[in-house]
Amino acid sequence: MVDKVKIFAKLLPRLEQVLKGRAAREEKLQRVCDLLKAEVPYFDWVGFYITDPEKPDDLVLGPYNGAPTEHVRISVGTGICGRAAQTRRMFVVQDVSKEANYLACSPDVQAEIVLPILVGGGVWGELDIDSHTLAPFSSDDGEFLGKVCALVAEMVRGQS
Ligand code: SME
Repeated sequence: MVDKVKIFAKLLPRLEQVLKGRAAREEKLQRVCDLLKAEVPYFDWVGFYITDPEKPDDLVLGPYNGAPTEHVRISVGTGICGRAAQTRRMFVVQDVSKEANYLACSPDVQAEIVLPILVGGGVWGELDIDSHTLAPFSSDDGEFLGKVCALVAEMVRGQS
């Protein structure tokens, strides 16, 4: 059994260091994806979707780590990502086969968690994680990833 609390406790300061560092925004977001995917065994695809400033009803794929996806642009309201943006709330799906409004990236994916990144009262983007394990997410994941998204939001506010 994976000791996720231990993994998260060790990982959060490393992610904070990356996000508060001097690299460019894209590079930091890529590093966050790489670290999350490498360190959490049931995180099989980790990526950011960013709200298109030209078309705020669309989310555009940003840095990610995992299999390439055809879903490079998602409309608000569509799929799990689009609905998390619409409600501005975390969306956890423990079994994607039971979701009607779902955009499949790979048949291996069994569960997904999406968290909006809120900046200035709007959805700046989202953190999206797919898992090949069924029902892998608990409140610990939500709490940890919420902290990661708060750090990303802080970085975005600081750079804009
Ligand atoms: N499954 C997502 C689409 C993005 S992929 O997981 C990378 C959704 O339903 O919104």
